[in-house]
Amino acid sequence: MEIFLDTANTDEIKEILQWGIIKGVTTNQKIFLKEKGCNFEEQSKKILKMVDPYPVSLEGPNNLDELIETARQYNKWGKNVVIKVPMLEDGSGLQAVKILESEGIKTNVTAMITVNQAFLAANAGATYASLFFNRIRDSGDDPVEVVKQVKAAINEGGYKTKIIVGSIRKPEDVTEIISTNAHIVTIPYPILTQMPYHETTVKTLNEFEKAWDEFKAAEKPILQV
Ligand code: E4P
Repeated sequence: MEIFLDTANTDEIKEILQWGIIKGVTTNQKIFLKEKGCNFEEQSKKILKMVDPYPVSLEGPNNLDELIETARQYNKWGKNVVIKVPMLEDGSGLQAVKILESEGIKTNVTAMITVNQAFLAANAGATYASLFFNRIRDSGDDPVEVVKQVKAAINEGGYKTKIIVGSIRKPEDVTEIISTNAHIVTIPYPILTQMPYHETTVKTLNEFEKAWDEFKAAEKPILQV
């Protein structure tokens, strides 16, 4: 399973890129609100360049005509642009996926809660389908089951669509998602940066460091020939 970073903050992206573990970035309007005051086009172009060759998802508006026009414009900003297409209740998001994918523009159908929605996105030919883990749980369903069912349907149907699991609120969510065998999990910076920590690991490493100091203090000098 690949890891994407769910952020529009360039400092966070810069730091985590150095870890060498992320294969993409996802954003949405709420994520951009955290960067309030920046220019959307400038910030997006910066992120696209930093993350290249990996994909960066930029979300479009909730209206078919505007969505298509906006997607075509964003797509000129970099070769790693992915357009987040909302799963609109009238099905027009699916129409957008068909149009954009036929023009070679990659899509990520977003804000999905059900197996049925993801099944439709896969049939429309979306590059990615984003299932919102904690929002699924909030709506009363078991998100692990939903993601597992979508993964099985995608595998069995031979669809090209890759599942991105988003809406992560704590490190334990990631542990649950690993068991689903989804293609990608997109993690916010404050959650990802908690993941290398465990108090027993810290204690163990301190114990080893102390042992090493004791060993070095008593070490026999090397024989000079
Ligand atoms: C994923 O692509 C979304 O950007 C994000 O994870 C949504 O998370 P939220 O439910 O915390 O808003």
